[in-house]
Amino acid sequence: MDLRDRVIVALDVPDVAAAEAVVAKLGNRATFYKVGYELAFAGGLDFAQRLAKSGKKVFLDLKLHDIPNTIEKGVGQIARMGMTFLTVHAYPQTLAAAANGAAGSPLGILGVSVMTSMDDGDLARAGYGMGVQDLIARRAQQIQESGCPGIVCSATDMATVRNAVGHSLTIVTPGIRPAGSALGDQKRVMTPGEAIRVGIDHMVIGRPITGAEDPAAAMQAVLDDIQSQS
Ligand code: C5P
Repeated sequence: MDLRDRVIVALDVPDVAAAEAVVAKLGNRATFYKVGYELAFAGGLDFAQRLAKSGKKVFLDLKLHDIPNTIEKGVGQIARMGMTFLTVHAYPQTLAAAANGAAGSPLGILGVSVMTSMDDGDLARAGYGMGVQDLIARRAQQIQESGCPGIVCSATDMATVRNAVGHSLTIVTPGIRPAGSALGDQKRVMTPGEAIRVGIDHMVIGRPITGAEDPAAAMQAVLDDIQSQS
């Protein structure tokens, strides 16, 4: 894998002009971008398509979940947009329908394991009969069974995922902080080098790069840290 493809820059910005400014500043250093709700619903879907046409890889983080027919048709449209990754919530029906919708295209479906905002008490309140780690393990297995290629999980859930499915899924992880950068609202973090050492395939990094005084230098520091561990 091109080392640059390991870093997915989260374009968590309010409008397309701000996103274009980040992309211009990063130039050839960045090959992979994530578009989430904030940008997607401010013209970001057309922008994502343009970005893909310009040769960048795009991860559309829409965390879809609906009845199978709706998921399959919607995912088919996203596959035609030239996206590289798309998230869906990791329910068996949704995973299977998304796999069907993406079939025959390069779009990779990532199952969202358990939102990191949920703890055991939140799961109990929502009616689940198991805790967070057990649910992550179950969902990792169900993602694998669905044929979807990847999982989004926190770095701290890596061991649970590996125990459940070995090395069979592409692991995509947020919560990465270069040494010395602000934590923001992230609580359990790893540096880019540590993330590579524990076997994360792609890391999602937002504010430490997009909010830096010199985003290109911040990106280069991330790439250097990964290179030193590769
Ligand atoms: O700016 P920062 O590097 O914290 O951005 C991380 C990105 O990963 C954001 O787009 C955020 O929504 C996403 N994310 C996260 N934690 C999760 C799931 C997704 O930070 N548990």
